[in-house]
Amino acid sequence: MQKRQILVTTALTYANGAPHLGHLVEAIQADIWVRFQRMRGHDCYFISGSDAHGTAIMIKARERGISPEELIESVHAEQLRDFSAFLIEYDNYYTTHSEENKQLVAAVYEKLKQHGDIATRTISQAFDPVQNIFLPDRYVKGECPRCHAKDQYGDNCEVCGATYSPHELINAVSVLSGATPIQKESEHYFFQLQHYEEMLRKWGQSGHLQPEVANKLQEWFDAGLRDWDISRDAPYFGFEIPGAAGKYFYVWLDAPIGYLASFENLCKRKPYLELNQFFGADSKAELYHFIGKDITYFHALFWPAMLTGAGYRKPTAIFVHGFLTVNGQKMSKSRGTFINASTYLQHIDPEYLRYYFAAKLNSNVEDIDLNLADFVQRVNSDLVGKVVNIASRCAGFITKNFDGKMANELIEPALYESFIQAGDTIAECYEQRDFARAVREIMALADQANQYIADKQPWTLIKQADKSAEVHAICSLGLQLFRVLVTYLKPILPELAKKTEQFLMIPPMTWHDRRTTLLEHKIAAFIPMLQRLELKQVEAMVTKPTEPVAKKEEKALVIKSEKSTLTEIKAEISYDDFAKIDLRIVRIAQAEAVPEADKLLKLQLDIGNGEMRQVFAGIKAAYPNPADLIGKLTVAVVNLAPRQMRFGMSEGMVLAAGPGGSDLWILHPDDGAKPGMLVK
Ligand code: 2FM
Ligand code: ZN
Repeated sequence: MQKRQILVTTALTYANGAPHLGHLVEAIQADIWVRFQRMRGHDCYFISGSDAHGTAIMIKARERGISPEELIESVHAEQLRDFSAFLIEYDNYYTTHSEENKQLVAAVYEKLKQHGDIATRTISQAFDPVQNIFLPDRYVKGECPRCHAKDQYGDNCEVCGATYSPHELINAVSVLSGATPIQKESEHYFFQLQHYEEMLRKWGQSGHLQPEVANKLQEWFDAGLRDWDISRDAPYFGFEIPGAAGKYFYVWLDAPIGYLASFENLCKRKPYLELNQFFGADSKAELYHFIGKDITYFHALFWPAMLTGAGYRKPTAIFVHGFLTVNGQKMSKSRGTFINASTYLQHIDPEYLRYYFAAKLNSNVEDIDLNLADFVQRVNSDLVGKVVNIASRCAGFITKNFDGKMANELIEPALYESFIQAGDTIAECYEQRDFARAVREIMALADQANQYIADKQPWTLIKQADKSAEVHAICSLGLQLFRVLVTYLKPILPELAKKTEQFLMIPPMTWHDRRTTLLEHKIAAFIPMLQRLELKQVEAMVTKPTEPVAKKEEKALVIKSEKSTLTEIKAEISYDDFAKIDLRIVRIAQAEAVPEADKLLKLQLDIGNGEMRQVFAGIKAAYPNPADLIGKLTVAVVNLAPRQMRFGMSEGMVLAAGPGGSDLWILHPDDGAKPGMLVK
């Protein structure tokens, strides 16, 4: 196989905050792909860094009373720490606020200017007369000119979806000072994207983009390409435009050039590398950018145009991914599901998230969901229950009965060979970024390996003196299969691979090495490799430490049931509102008291079709013995937005009748009722 020269980037992370789980979707996706390429023997470099310029960073630094340089330095350190902890193996994690970037940005700009791509004209913008600063659209708020919703941003209304300019807002104020913005004119610099339209149209249809991204491009061409405003007036944290005092490059101009800068900085540390090897106009190396869907316009239009204008090559491909949702919803601070990387790391093994994301990621642009209950279930059943289980079932016999040495023969060669052969399909899945399919294929093999061991029952055979050699052969094969499986999982689970290499006493596994059978090979004692993931770890991660809110929630739940005898009737709702409530018959599969809460029971509800919901219900007084509830049927609202409580996520509401306290009833078993039935 020919050795490929590959350069991979992830989007540079804004240096105004620590990474969260959303950032990790991309970092993990790209890292898995990079590790796979490296395991295949290719030269694959992986770079990124902090995106350090712009108004938001300048303002944040001001708020904290530090300089922007201090802010970006401390955030850069946090980003690097968190990405490393998630085993993201960058060759270089640099910053756009660097000398290399400054030089490159100036050179790119000069080339574009020479090419006749830069125009200037005067525009009018919102200006804060107190802070003396031009205001980006998001820094102006006011009343929507269309629907009159209050407190809307200067670019669009979150209530009616209207788009407009900040000066159209009614009673607009500057978010920075509260002052009424004035309109002020200034000269701006523009990049004339239309000069590259023909090239972009061709490039966009030549296999460099996912089909849905290529279609999006078509829409943008149809709407017409417009000049891009690449300058901002002082005060601005960025690079001043050469020959234009008081004018700065817009952050989005210098950000992608930061890819070149990060690579150039790497070249300084690796003398055998050179910028033009990867970026020169006639480079044969491969260049891939992993990005989120929200920044497609910048990467699929502006970036290839800038590269071309500046005399560089264009990307081989842009790999666009969707957003992350948690429990089916946008990450939310109030639900506790806006999870920072560092918060996750306090509670859970980073490889578990790598595995879960891998199991969900494919090559399309769809959003992926982190369903917390499914996360726990998946990690435990696949990694602990299937993969590591193979080694833990076999290793003890080899160590205890055969002096830690594997057998000198390989039984079931057909089974073994099928595991080796599967590597070609799995490799293709990785190459195509269909990690979800790779995981499915690997787990199907793990099922086969477990089935083989379960059928052979070495634990029974070992009791028969004449079956010792057979046990030796069975368990040795089990470990061979385990080794092959971990080879396939290594791009996703590098630490598990390392532990496996130590346990099997073998050098770092490569894709090709899976064919190297271990015969009469000494292994180390088996040490448990992964711990089961407990729901309480996940709950601790999403639970906010703010006690008062959680207490209030518990009270609210109880009051709702106690109020049932009161005469107060809430405001009338329409039939349409009522029809939105999804009421189902559910079976209470589990019920337990919440020790820290006086009134709550934690219920696991079977809502039909194999789906479960966890609900906290304020009915402890009525059901002091929660076990009485198990197996009973009740009615629940199953489409209530999940709420984060101090004790965990509540994903619905059970309905109860009665005056409250201990006089509260829920449904009992009834002939013919089944979980999942709609309540009419
Ligand atoms: O959207 C973002 O998070 C930007 N910081 C990404 C920049 S990517 C590249 F162009 F630098
Ligand atoms: Zn509106």
